[in-house]
Amino acid sequence: MNIVMVGSGYVGLVSGACFADLGHTVICVDKDAGKIEALRAGRIPIYEPGLAELVEKNAKAGRISFETSLDGVAAAADAIFIAVGTPSRASDGHADLSYVYAAAQDIARAVRKFTVVVTKSTVPVGTGDDVERIIRETNPTADVAVASNPEFLREGAAIPDFMHPDRIVIGVNDARAESVLAAIYKPLTDAGAPLMTMGRRTSELTKYANNAFLAMKITFINEVADLCERVGADVRDVAKGIGADDRIGAKFLQAGPGYGGSCFPKDTLALAKTAQDYDSPLRLIETLVAINDNRKRQMARKIIQAAGGDVRGKTICVLGLTFKPNTDDMREAPSLSIIQALRDSGATIRAYDPEGMEHAKLLMPHIVFGPDPYSAAEGATVTALITEWDEFKSLDFARLRSVVASPMFVDLRNVYRPDEVSRHGFTIVGVGRKA
Ligand SMILES: NC(=O)c1ccc[n+]([C@@H]2O[C@H](COP(=O)([O-])OP(=O)(O)OC[C@H]3O[C@@H](n4cnc5c(N)ncnc54)[C@H](O)[C@@H]3O)[C@@H](O)[C@H]2O)c1
Repeated sequence: MNIVMVGSGYVGLVSGACFADLGHTVICVDKDAGKIEALRAGRIPIYEPGLAELVEKNAKAGRISFETSLDGVAAAADAIFIAVGTPSRASDGHADLSYVYAAAQDIARAVRKFTVVVTKSTVPVGTGDDVERIIRETNPTADVAVASNPEFLREGAAIPDFMHPDRIVIGVNDARAESVLAAIYKPLTDAGAPLMTMGRRTSELTKYANNAFLAMKITFINEVADLCERVGADVRDVAKGIGADDRIGAKFLQAGPGYGGSCFPKDTLALAKTAQDYDSPLRLIETLVAINDNRKRQMARKIIQAAGGDVRGKTICVLGLTFKPNTDDMREAPSLSIIQALRDSGATIRAYDPEGMEHAKLLMPHIVFGPDPYSAAEGATVTALITEWDEFKSLDFARLRSVVASPMFVDLRNVYRPDEVSRHGFTIVGVGRKA
């Protein structure tokens, strides 16, 4: 199949590279000329394990190439996937669909034969109808079918997630679109991946319901963690106990500083807004959005408490800035709000992150970055682990002890058992457990 990806970010580039690896011919388009120039030169603009190798292999085989415009490249396409961003609209929290609509107009002008236009971006219910209308208005002779195919990959594990999905969801109102998508995903369905075909609107809503449910699990265990601290229980054991129940499942039950990232915050908000618009409010989702927003400043207060109740003039070391490990993505990372709150209280921040420092520098130019955890911790009153990179799972606490001003460790991901840290003279504060 000939496939064009519009948008070559985390989802567009990973999906494009994986489609190419499945044997399709893929052109990744992005209006960011710098990104395309880098990709043509063999440089990957994002950090995602295995992606550089996958792109290189398929570029050498002639199965993936990169363009800045759809003009000329869409003519042979069997399917064009829209994988542009759908961030929160600053004014009201709805999903900003301007990039999707612009892509639909570009596609309308570029298609030359029957083409399936597939929305892979996370979009509110009814966006497929809008995309279809925009294409028809822009080019009444365009022969297209518009489908939905939400993406469930996780940054940091994006390639295995794409290649071994729990399920592939396609939303189609057109038999031709269904057969093209079935052919595209055949290598995966032949290998056992379940293909779930449903209506376009149902597919669009499935993606939001999925993310909202996962965000709800995280928020639930975070609130239970707070209660654990009050009653002297340990949230890790509670999570183990309930996670063993098949009906609940163990994943997404790690208490921490609240969910962040490019998806959960904007998708929970957008779903709540959509539900209000349809006069069918999702109170659970509205509540978890508010709880999660508050949680980040609550984590800053935990750090301030660990510093003795006042951080004015003190140095706090932050280990891990990205919203989760194995990505360089800083979008809505909990570290951003936590650090802001610490600075508001007068702290100086030193930090280290294995992959996120380049992006973090642009967002938080006031931070003093160290080349490793130990340099970052020099003179720190509190060392706070915010993102659980593997590199932070075996810290040399004796070395850390020799550089910090005070042996206080705040472990917002419950990576360490208290005795592992306390035997080096550190006091540890975790989430949802006794110090
Ligand atoms: N990041 C994830 O883990 C993830 C997972 C599942 C779904 N999603 C969804 O996928 C979508 C894309 O997310 P992302 O993280 O890949 O975003 P991203 O910001 O990394 O990439 C989007 C890309 O689209 C490009 N673009 C925008 N308008 C364009 C146009 N008209 N023509 C060509 N290129 C254009 C941008 O330059 C950018 O490179 C979002 O809707 C997101 O919610 C993301």
